[in-house]
Amino acid sequence: MARNSLKDRRLVLVLHGPSLNLLGTREPEIYGRDTLGAINRRLVSSARAASVRLQAYQSNHEGELIDRVQRAAREGAAFIIINPAGYTHTSVALRDALAAVRIPFIEVHLSNIHAREPFRRQSLLAEIAVGTICGLGSRGYDLALAYALSRT
Ligand code: DQA
Repeated sequence: MARNSLKDRRLVLVLHGPSLNLLGTREPEIYGRDTLGAINRRLVSSARAASVRLQAYQSNHEGELIDRVQRAAREGAAFIIINPAGYTHTSVALRDALAAVRIPFIEVHLSNIHAREPFRRQSLLAEIAVGTICGLGSRGYDLALAYALSRT
């Protein structure tokens, strides 16, 4: 296979948790009006410009997100950007999967989780993340990708 072909490119995985498939119409005053499709297209195009392969995956199911994290390890993914959505505050299992694969990741939230209900202030993942971006709307994903590209 020729150098720089799609398969040779480094892989960044973007994971979106529950109900992020509804972005655009889901509480737009909190989460903004960008759809998930629009966000993903923007990320794919920025990654492509840097000759990096980017795959985006959304699931409403904890186990499917965990399976995708484990698959990322088999695929040799260089970096993960994850918005765990509601699982941020509840999922020991997702944290364990991310810790197990040892792929560096950035946690992204569209809203400022520290300025909302008290139960959103705790993230079970933040402690093992490279960093967290929250409250910057969908730009948070672009900033996370810029960092990931500088590291891959
Ligand atoms: C969210 C914040 C979470 O508390 C919430 O459950 C989400 C979205 C965000 O992007 O702001 O679903 O992760």
